[in-house]
Amino acid sequence: MKWKAGIVTLYPEAFPGPLGVGVIGRAKADGLWSLNTINPRDITEDKHRTVDDTPAGGGPGMVMRADILARTIDKMEAVPGPKLLLSPRGRPFDQPFAHELSEQPGALFVCGRFEGVDQRVIEARELVEVSIGDYVLAGGEVAAMAMIEACLRLVPGVLGALASRDEESFENGLLEYPQFTRPREFEGRHIPDVLLSGDHKKIAQWREEQSLALTRARRPDLLK
Ligand code: ADE
Repeated sequence: MKWKAGIVTLYPEAFPGPLGVGVIGRAKADGLWSLNTINPRDITEDKHRTVDDTPAGGGPGMVMRADILARTIDKMEAVPGPKLLLSPRGRPFDQPFAHELSEQPGALFVCGRFEGVDQRVIEARELVEVSIGDYVLAGGEVAAMAMIEACLRLVPGVLGALASRDEESFENGLLEYPQFTRPREFEGRHIPDVLLSGDHKKIAQWREEQSLALTRARRPDLLK
């Protein structure tokens, strides 16, 4: 089963970018997922290839036109799954959301630029607004890449045989415990004895304590 990503973007040259390297890039080469981009500018018909206009009611910046964006989205009807609009106003993207999306056959990512997109296309095409965090990016492209990467590593086959995913940060609602590897001593710092003890029960207990302590210190909100 192949996961299909569609991207509506004024900057298709930004893709695949980081999605073309590492395990995600390998999975793409292996046919586990596909990427299709479309540029709203390519479906304009005027000489200046206009995709935006000044905001109704005045104010700074430019707004992406509903008609152009709707026509662009309609050309991507072969992309299955939800239609998402990257926007700082959206539903916060998190690990459970990534799981939800990875279980879909794919998704269409509409990347906004300028000051925003005309509200009518959001409603008319039932775009679900999604945010990757409480900060403002210059456009949705980096946000779409972050979402796609988080989602694809949950798609069966992408990471290979990695049972370790269960112990990652957020998978059990906690931050991940610290990891160590050789050398046994680095600049006077030693690997905690318990990890070298071979006592798997004790190791699991130590890791759980570390996870809890880290979460309490850094992300108490996750414990609620
Ligand atoms: N576009 C601009 N800022 C964004 C954010 N925080 N999340 C998703 N898309 C965005």
